[in-house]
Amino acid sequence: MQIFIDTADTKELKAAFDTGLVDGCTTNPSLIAKAGRDFKEVIAEICEMTTGPVSAEVASTEADMMLKEGKRLAQIADNVVVKLPLTWAGLKTCKTLTEEGIKTNVTLCFSPNQAWLAAKAGATYISPFIGRLDDLGLDGMELIHDIRQIYDNYGYETKILAASIRSAGHCIDAAKAGADVSTIPPKVFNALLNHVLTDKGLADFVKDWEGTGQTIL
Ligand code: E4P
Repeated sequence: MQIFIDTADTKELKAAFDTGLVDGCTTNPSLIAKAGRDFKEVIAEICEMTTGPVSAEVASTEADMMLKEGKRLAQIADNVVVKLPLTWAGLKTCKTLTEEGIKTNVTLCFSPNQAWLAAKAGATYISPFIGRLDDLGLDGMELIHDIRQIYDNYGYETKILAASIRSAGHCIDAAKAGADVSTIPPKVFNALLNHVLTDKGLADFVKDWEGTGQTIL
């Protein structure tokens, strides 16, 4: 499963890309607002950090404007993926951009039928929001399982991008459910590595090694 980082904070992104384990990035208008910087400038900066996909979301809710915005965003760099909301206007724009060879990420997916429509529109990625479904007492992970089954049944090539990830457990479950990618907030990405037994084991090894008085080099 690929790892994208879900943030527009370039400092946090740089640290994540420096691990060599991150495949791309997703942003959304809320994350851009939180970063408090010029949208196109931030996207350009992220695209220079990676050759992987970088999702940048349109602001308009109307198809003609979405198309113009999508084309403008795609001009920023070759690895920009245009993010579109799961509305009829978003799907129409997705179909047109796909026909023009521009990659798309259809976002705000909360049902298997929505994911099916996005695949029919030729979306490169579908973003089911796990955490926001869990917040309502529903089972977000069940949505990933359903979409996997539908896409596999019919050979849809749209990639399942598990979004709204809130915990390391979400990442494991998304991988088990067959998601192609998880987009993870920096805090959760850092938590993937942590295990108290690793810390304790390493401290013991370091102490015992020092006791031998040996060096390797
Ligand atoms: C995905 O592309 C979205 O940016 C993101 O995962 C939404 O997460 P949230 O529900 O924590 O805001």
